Amino acid sequence: MGVQNSELPGFYKLSVEERRKKIAEVAGLPASEVDGWQPGTGVDIGILDRMIENVVGAFSLPLGIATHFLVNGKDYLVPMAIEEPSVVAAASHAAKIARAGGGFHAMVSAPQMIGQVQILGAKDPHGALHRILEDETRLLELANAKDPVLAKVGGGARRLEARVVESPRGPMIIVHLVVDVRDAMGANAVNTMSEALAPEFARLAEGRSHLRIISNLAIYRVARSRAVFPRDTLAFGNWKGSDVIDGILDAWAMAACDPFRCATHNKGIMNGISAVAIATGNDFRALESGAHSYAAWKARPGGVIAPLSTYEQDANGNLVGTIELPMAVGTVGGATVSHPTARLNVRLLGISGAEELARVITSVGLAQNFAALRALATEGIQKGHMSLHARNVAMAAGANASEVDRVAEALARSGTVRIDKAKEILSTLRSHA
Ligand code: MEV
Repeated sequence: MGVQNSELPGFYKLSVEERRKKIAEVAGLPASEVDGWQPGTGVDIGILDRMIENVVGAFSLPLGIATHFLVNGKDYLVPMAIEEPSVVAAASHAAKIARAGGGFHAMVSAPQMIGQVQILGAKDPHGALHRILEDETRLLELANAKDPVLAKVGGGARRLEARVVESPRGPMIIVHLVVDVRDAMGANAVNTMSEALAPEFARLAEGRSHLRIISNLAIYRVARSRAVFPRDTLAFGNWKGSDVIDGILDAWAMAACDPFRCATHNKGIMNGISAVAIATGNDFRALESGAHSYAAWKARPGGVIAPLSTYEQDANGNLVGTIELPMAVGTVGGATVSHPTARLNVRLLGISGAEELARVITSVGLAQNFAALRALATEGIQKGHMSLHARNVAMAAGANASEVDRVAEALARSGTVRIDKAKEILSTLRSHA
């Protein structure tokens, strides 16, 4: 398929219906097919149309509910939106094991985000940096005047930090405005304040301001979670509990010393974190960027990337897992509030605000990571993965709803989960129907 020309002047001015028609026309798609963009029940296309630009419909991800989560003594059913098989099952299973050890114990720092302002052209960058910091009280007042609502709910601009850095284009001053954003993700508040202060910084520095934007390396908005996975609950197949623990410790050690493994280790954590972030309408790209840059930041000096989790054995021989990463999630503003499915999911979680959400999401990250390491350290990831993946392959091979399970089972049994094999099984099945 594809199109001859992707220029669509005035496309943004059309209604959703008209946009769909237009796309069908230029891409040569039957009108009935673009109906697939129509959101299911529960989501009004008018709301989606106001969320982003050039809307033609909705993209549905499976939404699963992870069970067994106990965080700081409270039970949670956790909504997860993700396309990857095994993730929800793995999180639920890990949460069940953690529950036997008392559940997850999670905490968060104050929700402080960093706004960055780049100052160029100061003749005396170190003197300029001092002049800015000397005026901190007035500058913070100025920032807070931009968001009286935030100050009213106990948040607001807290402090300034500044550095002179040598860049490929010469020295520059980077000022950090640290803002307590309370229950918001924070980008709007922080960007507004940073833009408001930039001319003041420039004036004091006798230079000019350039970039004014939030940093996703949210080192002052960190969430932590810890869980004990009791040794006796870890026995599995021919593996004794202590074998599984040894296997997980060796797996973690590889992530701690090898960046190639560490990237995948942390990816497994984000499988859980991003899925909950999407389900609750949070900015999962900000979380991803924050997590991976934090992993690099933690590895300083000299390292490339560090695992976001640790594993040890406690005095009783049980496995102790911990996780720590930036957690810039919000429960006010943005899609969390405007998207009906996200709103419903937040209600299901029964959380009181962003800090509680951060504690739950971080615990899901730890659960996901533990589940991946446990599988990798024992039977490998493919066995569990393949039986679920087989369903996707069966569907891709053309199996309809009544055929999917039978084709998937036969595929998984065959040990060859490939589309050609699925087609072969499907045609045999149909010839016997
Ligand atoms: C797959 O999405 C995630 C894993 O690769 C994570 C890991 O290797 O730790 C299984």
